This record gives sequence, C-alpha cells and structure tokens, in this order.
Amino acid sequence: MRRWIKVLLVVLGALLVLGQVLPFPRAENPPVEAEVPAPPQVRAVLRAACYDCHSNETAWPWYSGVVPAKWLVRNHVREGREHLNFSTWNRYSADRAAHLLEEVAEEVEKGSMPLRSYLLLHHEARLSPEARRLLVDWARAGGGGEEGRRPREEGREGEAPGPLP
Ligand code: HEC
Repeated sequence: MRRWIKVLLVVLGALLVLGQVLPFPRAENPPVEAEVPAPPQVRAVLRAACYDCHSNETAWPWYSGVVPAKWLVRNHVREGREHLNFSTWNRYSADRAAHLLEEVAEEVEKGSMPLRSYLLLHHEARLSPEARRLLVDWARAGGGGEEGRRPREEGREGEAPGPLP
C-alpha cells in the first residue's frame, strides 16, 4: 500500500474515534418553555412528525450516539431548533410567530418537511394527505390561538396599554 494511503487511513480513523469520544454536537433536551397554540389533533401531528427536530422533546435514537449518524442527527436537531422551536414558542414575537406559521404551511405543502432522510427511518412521521391538510389549514389560519404566545402588547411600539381601571 502506498504510504500516503496508510497515513490517510490513520488520520481518518483518528477523526472517527475523536468524533465518537467528544460530546459534540450535544444531544440535549433543554427545558420546555411553551406549548405551541394548536388544537389537540394538530398538536398530535406536530408531535409525531416535527417534534424530534423542532422542539426540546427530542427522542434521541441510539444511533444518535454513534459516528457518523451522530453528526447528521445532532446537527439536524440543532439546526431545526434554531429555525423553529415549538418548545420556545413564547420567545417569538407575534410577527415572528406569524411568519414561522407561513413557513410551516409552505414547507408542509411542498412536502419538504419532515426531512426525507428522517422519514426513511421514521415511517410513523409520514404525513397522510389528511394530516398534511390539517397542518396547512391550521398554519394558514395563523395558529388560531394565543395560548402559549407572548401577549401582543408586550414590547411593541405605539401600543401603550390604556389607563388602569
Ligand atoms: C429530521 C429533522 C426534522 C424534522 C423531523 C422536521 N424538520 Fe423542519 N427543519 C429541519 C432543519 C434541519 C431545518 C433547517 C434547514 C432547512 O430548512 O432545511 C428545518 C427547517 C424548517 C422550517 C423553516 C423555518 C425557517 O426558518 O424558515 C420549517 C417551517 C420547518 N422546518 C417545519 C417543519 C415541520 C412543520 C415539520 C413536521 C411536519 C418538520 N419541520 C420536521 C429539520 C427537521
């Protein structure tokens, strides 16, 4: 075997071992701060199809501890939460929440969420046409609820609360 191939293999092996041993990217479930405002049927679909990546209630599979799946799974969850986290819905302003719901409707309608690679191993997360319709209608209607969302007046300009009764 050529010398450089050996060197390459040793380096690759070392990287794999290092990746396996290091705790990064982390597999953590931070505290749940909020519930997304949704009727029970919608919430059930979100939980089944989206919560592994878009909430702090991720069910970490065993292979999320094993390189190289570890990198893929943990990065998907990290990125997914960064974009949209139903467990910290309380932190979104009303505008941000409305925008995210539009995105939800769009992604689900296009069929680009849940991620395809996820569906390969999570058949239960596949959306039936009815479940897809349910999610899209709910998201298009703006979530249809204030539950869990920050009160609208908070932190918004030009909307000083009226005099106290
Ligand atoms: C396997 C992990 C995974 C699952 C499951 C998943 N997502 Fe995602 N989602 C991601 C990642 C990663 C991103 C960011 C990168 C991208 O857009 O592809 C993302 C991005 C998004 C965005 C874009 C947010 C923005 O900032 O514009 C929306 C909306 C979204 N997902 C909705 C959903 C919905 C709704 C479901 C369930 C029906 C779902 N996702 C299921 C991983 C996931």
